[in-house]
Amino acid sequence: MAYRFSDDFLAELRKRCDIEKVISRYVDLKQRGSNFVGLCPFHNEKTPSFHINTAEQYFYCFGCHIGGDVINFIQQKENLSYVDAVSLLAEQAGMKVPQAGEYDNRLSLLRKRILEMNKTAARFFFDCLQGPQGAAAREYMKKRQITPQSAVRFGLGYAPDSWDSLKKHLLFQGYTEDEIRDSGLVTASYKSRDSQDKPHTYDKFRNRLMFPIFDLRGNIIAFGGRALDPKEPSKYMNTAETLVFSKGSNLYAMNFAKASSEDFFILCEGYMDVLSLHQAGFSNAVACLGTALTKEQADLMKRYREKAVTCYDNDEAGKRATNKALSILPAAGIKVRVLSLHGGKDPDEILKTEGRDAFRRMLERSSDSVEYRIEEIAGKYNIEVPTEKAECMKECIPVLAGIANSVEQEIFVKSTAEKFSVSPENIYAEIREYQKRVRYAAKRKEERKIKTAIREDPNNLNAEYSQNLRAAKNEEAVLSVLLRFPEKLPFILENLGAEDFVTDFNRRMFLSLCSGIQESPGLEPIMTLSQKIDEKEMSKMTSLLRDAREISAENVRILQSISVIKEEKKKKAQKNTFDNSDETFELLINDLKKKKKDHHESGGNRNGY
Ligand code: UTP
Ligand code: MN
Repeated sequence: MAYRFSDDFLAELRKRCDIEKVISRYVDLKQRGSNFVGLCPFHNEKTPSFHINTAEQYFYCFGCHIGGDVINFIQQKENLSYVDAVSLLAEQAGMKVPQAGEYDNRLSLLRKRILEMNKTAARFFFDCLQGPQGAAAREYMKKRQITPQSAVRFGLGYAPDSWDSLKKHLLFQGYTEDEIRDSGLVTASYKSRDSQDKPHTYDKFRNRLMFPIFDLRGNIIAFGGRALDPKEPSKYMNTAETLVFSKGSNLYAMNFAKASSEDFFILCEGYMDVLSLHQAGFSNAVACLGTALTKEQADLMKRYREKAVTCYDNDEAGKRATNKALSILPAAGIKVRVLSLHGGKDPDEILKTEGRDAFRRMLERSSDSVEYRIEEIAGKYNIEVPTEKAECMKECIPVLAGIANSVEQEIFVKSTAEKFSVSPENIYAEIREYQKRVRYAAKRKEERKIKTAIREDPNNLNAEYSQNLRAAKNEEAVLSVLLRFPEKLPFILENLGAEDFVTDFNRRMFLSLCSGIQESPGLEPIMTLSQKIDEKEMSKMTSLLRDAREISAENVRILQSISVIKEEKKKKAQKNTFDNSDETFELLINDLKKKKKDHHESGGNRNGY
């Protein structure tokens, strides 16, 4: 949403919100001259690279390159939109947030109206739950062992079994039909397909136990509703996307969990799991609410904790969700462990049947993500049967090969070896084999690219070739040496510079090759070129490489080539100073002749087919 605050307003806001004062609430700052430094709050570091320039009123981290003004800082740190970051700062500075621009004003007003409406609805649901019509819902809560305290803490309510009682209530409170429709609290039904009529709307949530969904600032942004009637086909229903709610960017109960004293989150699937967990004292539980965990949710978790334990249902869907989380969470920088539930279906049931101490023990015993994946794989095979055991090992190798930390890898290789009674050496050999295959596959892919390039006709790339035969041939010799023996680069650079090259094409190849070798030591030099030069040029270089099989890497031979290049360069420079028009003319003619010949040849080829 484009929302422009006036420059005056922003200037006043920045004046009132000294960047170092605001940031010092988040970061331990040390004064350095008139500036400040500290440990960057956006990435992990041990030595401070986060700087605040007080004169310019901006921050910059030399480690992760995040920077900006005080508003950008709040945006990043609190995960807020620009408008919300400004509003938050303005609130803290005691400034009234102005409404600018008609259009944006309308949208931000609507957002505010929807949030208010949600609050009104939550109060309505709450009253219904406590009132006479809520008797059955209260009975249901009792059956599910939800205490009245948690009901209040989580703002639970009851949506009555009626088509319009909430809608009527909202209309009575002064909300318009349009506003109510935009809140997602009602469902629209059109009388007929092509009708231009306003749709008829009715209450979306009926005869359900209601769970308000809060954002981090305590706003109610959506609802989830649990059907009370067991015959109702959709057990849970959630608010669809609205101006204030987007699925996959929030986590249920994060507003409470971020304040827990534990250094990890418990990630589970549903409302009831979170409720039961919090009730049992695990206030670090959050839920992703039936959708697969998103990167956005993982980033949100990372802002508050570095660790998480997944605790999904013990069924197929839960296993799939666990695997997804195991790839998303580490990518967001979160260390994951997995709590596999045996005996019960979900955390809610475990707590009820086995109690909180049993759950705590399960939490302590939760397995490392690698352990979990190995167990998962092992579960699929009967390792008493040799062929199955071999298959099983084969599937475990990529998991073990993927452990970046070598100490950790050693631990898991050892335990896996023990588990399957094979030798760790064997597993290591398999890991090396596997890594070789992965590298080989990557190489093959690159080679295929090169082969395609070779099929292209590489003629006439170096336009200066025929006029500078001696120089060009020796330039190619140097390029060939570099392609075959990249370790000769320092020696060559000591004796030859790009400026010594006679032909532009070879000079360009030389520069690409030098930088490629320097940037990616250990990689085949030809591979380093694929990003730097085009396919035709690539095919020329591969043909050089192919013909370089016999090339000598002796320093004397290299120096011979280099001295010829330099000699030719000098000759050429002199020639240029005494430019002879006859000679230029002759070169031109030669060039034309050659072009004609090339053209004829390629044309002849084509006709030949
Ligand atoms: P579950 O079906 O595992 O529900 O779905 P649950 O939490 O165990 O529910 P109870 O114990 O029967 O009350 C887990 C979560 O997936 C979402 C909900 O967020 C639910 O909490 N879900 C499930 C839906 O959104 N719609 C559905 O129809 C089912
Ligand atoms: Mn359940």
